Amino acid sequence: MRTQICIIGGGPAGLFLSHVLHAAGIDSVIVERQTKKHVLGRIRAGVLEHGTVELLRQYGLSERMDRDGMPKDGTRIVWQGKDDFFIDTMRWTGKRMMIWGQTQITEDLYAARERDGAAIVFEAANTTLHDITGSPSVTYEKDAITHRIDCDFVIGCDGFHGPSRMAIPADIRREYERIYPFGWLGIMVERPPLKELVYAYHADGFAMASRRNPMLSRYYVQVPAADKVEEWSDDRFWDAFLGRVPEDMARQVQTGPSIEKSIAPLRSFVSEPMRWGKLFLAGDAAHIVPPTGAKGLNLAFSDVFYLSRALITHYDEGSDHYLDCYSEMALRRIWAAENISWKLTKLLHVFPDEDPFDQKIRQNDYDLLLASEEVQQALAYEYIGLPFED
Ligand code: FAD
Ligand code: PHB
Repeated sequence: MRTQICIIGGGPAGLFLSHVLHAAGIDSVIVERQTKKHVLGRIRAGVLEHGTVELLRQYGLSERMDRDGMPKDGTRIVWQGKDDFFIDTMRWTGKRMMIWGQTQITEDLYAARERDGAAIVFEAANTTLHDITGSPSVTYEKDAITHRIDCDFVIGCDGFHGPSRMAIPADIRREYERIYPFGWLGIMVERPPLKELVYAYHADGFAMASRRNPMLSRYYVQVPAADKVEEWSDDRFWDAFLGRVPEDMARQVQTGPSIEKSIAPLRSFVSEPMRWGKLFLAGDAAHIVPPTGAKGLNLAFSDVFYLSRALITHYDEGSDHYLDCYSEMALRRIWAAENISWKLTKLLHVFPDEDPFDQKIRQNDYDLLLASEEVQQALAYEYIGLPFED
């Protein structure tokens, strides 16, 4: 088989890239390791930056989001069961975010790609990249047969564990990483959510309240990295969660049995550069943020924005200017997101080895936020995400 662009990974980054390229008349094939059902079953992101919302609108993917999504003008931080503070993104940036699940975005992307007759291979095993600096190709196995796709460019949208990043030689790759000694235990509950998104800092650990729709709530608590889901009954979860938020908020939480429960490890990671020869990386394949800033999916979309523009300029105008600066440009936005995600993680979580000095610094960071409009404005600016560069 031959195509212009071979995309490895049918998650949000790969699907959105294929959709945008199709709109520009550029052919692509997506090679995905899992079944579609599996990809759609992952419960992940919920908060979209203004820039992501605009991209979905621009590419005709916003009908359901604009109807059922929940516009969001900020996030509340509650502190030690009493004080609280609102990150007023609308006031400081004039931009509106949206609460809308990754699952629904992925469903809409699959529907659009299937409507447009996309070539998507599911259950592809042993996906391998070849001759990346020459005439690239990708091979995979399906039904005991090895298939080969020749292409102009290979795009690695295969998440943190995929093979694309590893196809870049080790002496070219620079990796930057922080692994946190805790994870987020998340549950989904069929009960009306709280009115606002809430991040809670408490001496027992972080907690968070989010939502998916008017009848579906998402809650998280910080747990030690080694904990197993089986160790957390629903009752234990609710005891931990309700103990970490102020009493009046705890009274408003509608608890119930979980319909999903999972633990996500927290990690900060960046691999540079995001290009080698004719291979480009986008999304979690190149970088991971801890979920505290709600930036991961948004970064996947901003990478695709830069990369699709670069590929379209290559084919339409014969210019490689944007391909050549893709890695550098995308990484500026990525490091800003890494920075805010790390800062919020540090502010809101309890680290097992922290000492009273660390605790005083954390308290002072929070006090500064309460005291200074300049600090509030800076936080809102970082939280809303940097604008895209020309
Ligand atoms: P993925 O979604 O990981 O997709 C990669 C795809 O590649 C997968 O379908 C995988 O099956 C496929 N693949 C892997 N290996 C191969 C292979 N060998 N061959 C072929 N295909 C392969 N982000 C936000 O912006 N806001 C949030 O509120 C938010 N909340 C989050 C909450 C949690 C609990 C978690 C865990 C994440 C959250 N994120 C959030 C992050 C967000 O979900 C990810 O950043 C996003 O999924 C990245 O998309 P992607 O397409 O790059 O990668
Ligand atoms: C979510 O709704 O799952 C969510 C929201 C905000 C975050 C992380 C996750 O920062």
